[in-house]
Amino acid sequence: MDTSFDMFIETAVPHNELIISRTDLKGIITYVNETFAEISGYKPDELIGKPHNIVRHPDMPKSVYADLWKTIKEEKTWSGYVKNLRKDKGYYWVEAQISGVYKDGELIEYKSIREPISREKKIQMQRTYDQMRKEQENNCRIVSYTTCEKEV
Ligand SMILES: Cc1cc2nc3c(=O)[nH]c(=O)nc-3n(C[C@H](O)[C@H](O)[C@H](O)COP(=O)(O)O)c2cc1C
Repeated sequence: MDTSFDMFIETAVPHNELIISRTDLKGIITYVNETFAEISGYKPDELIGKPHNIVRHPDMPKSVYADLWKTIKEEKTWSGYVKNLRKDKGYYWVEAQISGVYKDGELIEYKSIREPISREKKIQMQRTYDQMRKEQENNCRIVSYTTCEKEV
């Protein structure tokens, strides 16, 4: 797992722009708008054809995505809070809505539209997801200060 300094840099999500991606039924990205590309730090070409977990952040509990896929496979809309990993290893938080794209009544793709979330919500969700990973995956995020002296 990456533990570099870059992981602690947050990218702000704009309030006035839609952040959109679409995938095929297996979660391979078929479309991203410019705003999605910009926020994730990739060029659209680097994202299209890749699995959407290219932006998966290690702080996200596995069960969140299990619930997401169960919901959308039942052709319902899923919404939830997501911390995503940028290409430069920084992160950004969004509230995502994921649902089906239909052609002649048939489910052909999935689409996701995202919005920024408040600072309070980010803090709450970071705590919630840390707790969920601890309980469900025995996985703990440790951020600590230490002296600079070399270990002997
Ligand atoms: C339309 C759509 C959008 C998605 N958006 C994201 C996203 O922004 N970030 C993310 O980590 N996973 C997203 N996912 C879920 C991923 O497909 C994947 O399940 C998740 O990253 C966990 O990776 P894993 O299934 O390989 O464990 C999206 C799925 C769909 C169908």
